[in-house]
Amino acid sequence: MLGTFTYCNPTKLYFGEGSLKYLKEELPKYGSNVVLIYGGGSIKKNGIYDAVVEILKENGKCVAEIAGVMPNPTLAKLYEGVQIARDHQADFLLAVGGGSVCDYAKAVSVSAYCKEDPWEKYYLRFEEPDCPVIPVGCVLTMVGTGSEMNAGAVITNQETKQKIGHVFADERVMPRFSVLDPTYTLTLPHYQIVSGIYDIFNHICEQYFSGEDDNTSDYISEGLMRSLLHSSRIANKDPQNYEARSNIMWTATWALNTLVAKGKTTDWMVHMLGQAVGGYTDAAHGMTLSAVSLPYYRFLLPYGLPKFKRFAMNVWDVQPEGKTDRQIAEEGLAAMEAWMKELGLAMNLTQLGVTEDMIEGLADVTLVLPGGYNPPSREEIIRIFKESL
Ligand code: NZQ
Ligand code: ZN
Repeated sequence: MLGTFTYCNPTKLYFGEGSLKYLKEELPKYGSNVVLIYGGGSIKKNGIYDAVVEILKENGKCVAEIAGVMPNPTLAKLYEGVQIARDHQADFLLAVGGGSVCDYAKAVSVSAYCKEDPWEKYYLRFEEPDCPVIPVGCVLTMVGTGSEMNAGAVITNQETKQKIGHVFADERVMPRFSVLDPTYTLTLPHYQIVSGIYDIFNHICEQYFSGEDDNTSDYISEGLMRSLLHSSRIANKDPQNYEARSNIMWTATWALNTLVAKGKTTDWMVHMLGQAVGGYTDAAHGMTLSAVSLPYYRFLLPYGLPKFKRFAMNVWDVQPEGKTDRQIAEEGLAAMEAWMKELGLAMNLTQLGVTEDMIEGLADVTLVLPGGYNPPSREEIIRIFKESL
């Protein structure tokens, strides 16, 4: 661990079947005005809404609602929610849903009392809140983003086609608690399950493919990836398998709750490419990542060859005898490709509605982050997008 860092994760987790009951212990810690935030209606169909509302009532809370938070929540929706939170004088925001709902709740929490335009302050200038932040709690229903235990909040500006994530440094933005009941995820369609699985896998890759030191974080990442591969294969064939789905839920949380990034640099370019695609197409987040990953990693491989070789051997069990480092590394990516196809992930951008004439625009909105082995130039980004079509 050559890096220096501070580590604190203030989010309390309640994990396992039946853990919604702990909401009763958490709610009394906050004032009476609660805003309940949820998505397009899945929680009404599977009964989670009724269970949550009953506990809110038992606790005597005065509840307002922000309903209809869409996947890839928009700036227009953020402005709407800010108004509701202000009008209700919210003491607490309860997010019930997937990453979109949790992210959105955090965005409302820092924006409700913000004196400036939140898009400009948080998403264009990446500033931290200097106003009161409304506490957030989450009841998670979709697995993948890690939003339940991090300070990330991704918002899409539909007018400018920019999808931007701010990972706040301010610990007040992290959920105070999250309820993780794997049974709540059993109603997810297969498409969302595998999209979330790839999101988890890629979060680990983004933090793994960077840095050259001998770092504990990389060994933790390899363990998480192996666990995910194992459970994903079970869940892909048998989606109702509780053990596999609960393992995936727990892996998702640890893949992006700041732990495995400690002491090292990170890359995040697959997410930057994927977010550009998200801003243009509104496709499911994990699928935007899967569609660009292989062209990106094949581009990156020569610059980070020792790590790609290690990935092949330690994650994919590639046998090294009689092979060059390059062959070993390429075999690792081939094994990853086979696994992605087995899950049924989007393997190209055409499937997501991207056409060649969009590529210049996509390159315009792709942020380039400096931490990886070889931050791509604009020409390289265009080439990667073309290879992903
Ligand atoms: O809206 P409803 O009706 O609830 O339907 C949702 C939505 O259509 C559905 N769903 C959720 N739980 C369900 C369910 N359907 C049946 N049964 C359930 N139990 O699933 C659909 C997708 O939900 P969404 O929340 O959009 O998915 P996800 O969790 O993948 O979140 C994606 C958002 O998170 C951001 C992404 O960019 C995207 O905006 N991310 C947030 C990150 C963070 N906070 O650190 C990091 C990630 O890299 C990511 O960027
Ligand atoms: Zn992601």
